[in-house]
Amino acid sequence: MAASIFAAVPHSPPVAVFKLTADFREDSDSRKVNLGVGAYRTDEGQPWVLPVVKKVEQMIANDNSLNHEYLPILGLPEFRANASRIALGDDSPAIKEKRVGSVQCLGGTGALRIGADFLRRWYNGNNNTATPVYVSTPTWENHNSVFMDAGFKDIRTYHYWDAAKRGLDLQGLLNDMEQAPEFSIFILHACAHNPTGTDPTPEQWKQIAAVMKRRSLFPFFDSAYQGFASGSLDKDAWAVRYFVSEGFELFCAQSFSKNFGLYNERVGNLTVVGKDADNVQRVLSQMEKIVRTTWSNPPSQGARIVATTLASPQLFDEWKGNVKTMADRVLLMRSELRSRLEALGTPGTWNHITEQIGMFSFTGLNPKQVEYMVKEKHIYLMASGRINMCGLTTKNLDYVAKSIHEAVTKIQ
Ligand SMILES: Cc1ncc(COP(=O)(O)O)c(C=O)c1O
Repeated sequence: MAASIFAAVPHSPPVAVFKLTADFREDSDSRKVNLGVGAYRTDEGQPWVLPVVKKVEQMIANDNSLNHEYLPILGLPEFRANASRIALGDDSPAIKEKRVGSVQCLGGTGALRIGADFLRRWYNGNNNTATPVYVSTPTWENHNSVFMDAGFKDIRTYHYWDAAKRGLDLQGLLNDMEQAPEFSIFILHACAHNPTGTDPTPEQWKQIAAVMKRRSLFPFFDSAYQGFASGSLDKDAWAVRYFVSEGFELFCAQSFSKNFGLYNERVGNLTVVGKDADNVQRVLSQMEKIVRTTWSNPPSQGARIVATTLASPQLFDEWKGNVKTMADRVLLMRSELRSRLEALGTPGTWNHITEQIGMFSFTGLNPKQVEYMVKEKHIYLMASGRINMCGLTTKNLDYVAKSIHEAVTKIQ
C-alpha cells in the first residue's frame, strides 16, 4: 500500500491547560487538586450552573415561539446590543450616537479571531500582515496564535509583569508604547489580567491611554472576566469605558464563558466602537463576510440565555448576584490561602495572593517547585506558577498551603 498522504505531518504538542486537566482526571490519588483549569468551581470542587442560567434555560425550553432556524450571520440582535451595553455602560454616548456595532462570536476566542481577521484585511491598508501586534508578557497563550493564524507576521511583546516587584511594570509598558511604530495594535486585558491577576489602576490606565492616543496605537481589549475582578460589572469595565470617553476607535472581545458559566456554549461578542455610524456599518459589512466563511452563523442557545438575562431588570439583578457569589468565593480563598502560608512561616511574602484579582494568581513558584507540586503532591498547576483560585476549597486549603510550604522550603 502507498504511504499515507499524511505521513509527513508532525505531531503537535498538546495544549498545556487541557493536558493538565486530562492528567488530573487520570490521577487516582485521593488528595489530588486541580488548580490549572480556567473555570469556576464551587466549594465542593464542582462546576456551577448559575441559578439564573438554569431558570432562563427552563424559560427557553417552555417558549414555543422559539425554533432552530439559522440566526443572522452577525448573530442574535438582542444579544449583540445587550452585550455591548454591559461593556460600554447604559449611558454610553457612543451607543447613543449609534457608532457601536457588534458581532456575536464563538466565545471570546471567536471574537478575537474575527477582530484579528478583520484587522489583517482592512486595518491600515489592505491585506496588511506587517503591522506589529503587541501582547503583554506574560499573556494568555492563545493571543499570539490567534493573531498569527489570522496572518499577522510581526507579533511582539510589551513589558507588563515585574517579577521582582510582583506587580505591574508600568514604566516598561509605557516605554514599549512610546517606541512602537504608529498604528501598532495592542491587545489589552480589560480586567483580571490572565495570568498575573494584576491590572493597571485607573490612574495608570489614564497614562496608558495618553501614550496610545499620542502615538496612534490601536486598542484591542480582551474582556474575558467582567465581574470577576471586583464583583462589579461597571468597575471591571472602567478601562474600556475610559478609552471610549477619550475618543478612541477600538475593539472589545467579550467572553461570557466565565461570568455566565457558559463555557461550552461558546458565547462571545465583538464590540466595535468607531467615529461615526457610517464607519461602523461598513466595518460590520466586512465582518459579516468573514463570519460567513468562518462559521457562517452562530449558535443560539447561549446567546439566548445571555440576551434574556441582560434584557430583564430582575434577571439581570439575579445574574449580578450570581457573579458576586463567584467573585466573593475567590476573594475568600485568596485570604484563606495567604493566612495559612503566613501562619506556616513559608519563606517569601504572600501579600500578592490577596492583592491580585480575578480568577488567577501568579504564585511565584518556579518550574521546579511546580513540578514537585504536580509529581509529589498531585496538585496540578500551570508551569508558570499560575493557580486558579477556584480550585481551592475549604477542604483542600490546608493540604495546598502545606504543599506550597514544602515546595518552597525543599526546592529552590
Ligand atoms: C484572557 C482570555 N481571553 C480570552 C479567553 C477565551 O474565552 P472563551 O472560552 O470565551 O473563548 C480566555 C479564556 O480562558 C482568557 O483567559
